[in-house]
Amino acid sequence: MKILSIESSADDTAIALIEVKSKKFKVIAHEKASQAKLHEKYGGIYPNLAKNEHIKNLPKLLEKILKKAQSKTSPPAPSPKERGVSPFGGGQEEVDLITVTSGPGLEPCLWAGVTFAEELAEKWNVPIVPVNHMEGHILSVFGKDGGSFKIPSLKFPVLSLLVSGGHTQLVITKKNFTHVIIGETLDDAVGEAFDKVARMLGLPYPGGPQISRLASQARKLKIKNSKLKIKFPRPMLKSDNFSFSYSGLKTSVLYLIKKIGKLNTKTKSEIAFEFERAAIEPLLYKTKKALEKYKAKTLIVAGGVAANKHLRSEIKKFFPKALFPTQKLAADNAIMIGIAGYLNYLENPKRKYKIRANGSLRLGEMIK
Ligand code: KG4
Ligand code: ZN
Repeated sequence: MKILSIESSADDTAIALIEVKSKKFKVIAHEKASQAKLHEKYGGIYPNLAKNEHIKNLPKLLEKILKKAQSKTSPPAPSPKERGVSPFGGGQEEVDLITVTSGPGLEPCLWAGVTFAEELAEKWNVPIVPVNHMEGHILSVFGKDGGSFKIPSLKFPVLSLLVSGGHTQLVITKKNFTHVIIGETLDDAVGEAFDKVARMLGLPYPGGPQISRLASQARKLKIKNSKLKIKFPRPMLKSDNFSFSYSGLKTSVLYLIKKIGKLNTKTKSEIAFEFERAAIEPLLYKTKKALEKYKAKTLIVAGGVAANKHLRSEIKKFFPKALFPTQKLAADNAIMIGIAGYLNYLENPKRKYKIRANGSLRLGEMIK
């Protein structure tokens, strides 16, 4: 079975073509168009601009995907006339399923992907399955950006720490693959805090990788001897729940920067170093607590911030077998949407979905 998957929930447009044969996934092609440069001057994503970019990028990416697929799987491409309605010209059985992110995310962006996917499904007469973007992130840890992979049998309950530009959540997944949210951020997401602090430091968007780079430099220079003795708060660290909060930390950084005035590179590195530690410590503390309380057997850390090296190494100290996505699949991608969509499809292959984009789609119930 061949799956065409589409992701457009934020500022990355992505399409993948994946083949599944006896439970083995093979990525035939994966294309992504990033809008990071475009949104740089806003220091975050500007939704309507992003939507228009998705609408522009989706057909271009699809064309690239189909070209790659043809060169890998079939004899020379037929002319567009011969092609008719089928994507490959040979027979429309070559795409058997379309999966698309329906939420959560920026609603105008989600609609761009959903509309495009529905039009294709109708044209090719293939089933279409909606995917929750956060479920995609959970499953991203099993994917590869090329080559083949299998989903191993998992030990439940699974605890997932989902950390991205829009989310900071702890999720328990039970044996039947249903999810409950046990805690989340009360204000900003951790990735958003990285982006905002980077902007305060005059670093380009997205800020996570930039802060992380400066923090590593500071770590190498053994910043412990810093004269500035910067110390930021660890919000909600010891609170008796699994909630997070990042707006206070962000404000503390802003005050410090105002107090210091002109920042040199060394000071920027020191701020980045201490901010990274302050942002990550509550994640570590609450993940450890949740592992104990829910007796989780598997730990997954996913979402854009899962690319962070400090977070990865600190998690491995208390849960060496934690599962992380590859650096590429930590960021938004269509491979994870293909995997999640396929698993949803298997649950009930005959089900016909009426897909609506939903910016605040939840993974499951929130328990307190
Ligand atoms: O999952 P993702 O690609 O998009 C959303 O669904 O939001 O996450 C993007 C977020 C951005 O806020 C970005 O700054 C952050 O992930 N990020 C990082 C790192 N790489 C990306 N944050 C910290 N350290 C990193 N190395
Ligand atoms: Zn994401």
